[in-house]
Amino acid sequence: MDYPGLDGFLGNRASLMLDIVFLAMFAVIPVMGWSIYQVRQKRYVLHMRVQVVLGVVLAAAVTLFEIDMRVNGWRQRAVESPYYSDDLLSGLVNCSLCLHLVFAISSFVLWVYVIVQALRKLPRPPAPNEYGPQHRFWAKIAAVDMCLTAVTGWVFYYLAFVAG
Ligand code: HEM
Repeated sequence: MDYPGLDGFLGNRASLMLDIVFLAMFAVIPVMGWSIYQVRQKRYVLHMRVQVVLGVVLAAAVTLFEIDMRVNGWRQRAVESPYYSDDLLSGLVNCSLCLHLVFAISSFVLWVYVIVQALRKLPRPPAPNEYGPQHRFWAKIAAVDMCLTAVTGWVFYYLAFVAG
């Protein structure tokens, strides 16, 4: 089948950007886990650098991904899936996308908030201060939210572009 935009390389119906983001999430989660482990070893500078780089890389990937989705769309690529429906209120593909968007949008907002607040309110070089407990609270929610974004994204990817 001919679809608009560049085809991916994983051998299913997904586009190139969908494949890149699908695979990138397998890297983001362990890197984030390792960065949180570094905090426990008191390597705060390393933790800050890794989190800021992750934030920038994710923002760049999401921007390219959004452009691909707006310009080329994804629905034609999902039509062959048995879980696809044109009716937005039915079908597992739309249902999983809706759930995924809840986590993806809240993750985006939380990551911007956690990074900006950490850079503003923690000392430089970074170390625990009176803002530390608040950072730990929101950062843990942001980290769990990102894991749920990845899992729901993988489920959506499978249902829309692999199943068939
Ligand atoms: C979205 C980005 C970030 C995430 C998900 C994140 C995640 C976390 C988590 C989960 C902890 C608590 C670890 C634990 O209690 O075992 C933590 C602590 C810490 N993070 Fe981040 N972090 C982020 C960004 C940053 C940035 C940008 C800085 C530096 C400016 C920073 C500096 C610190 C410091 C100093 C602590 C120790 C706080 C304390 O113990 O009171 N983090 N981070």
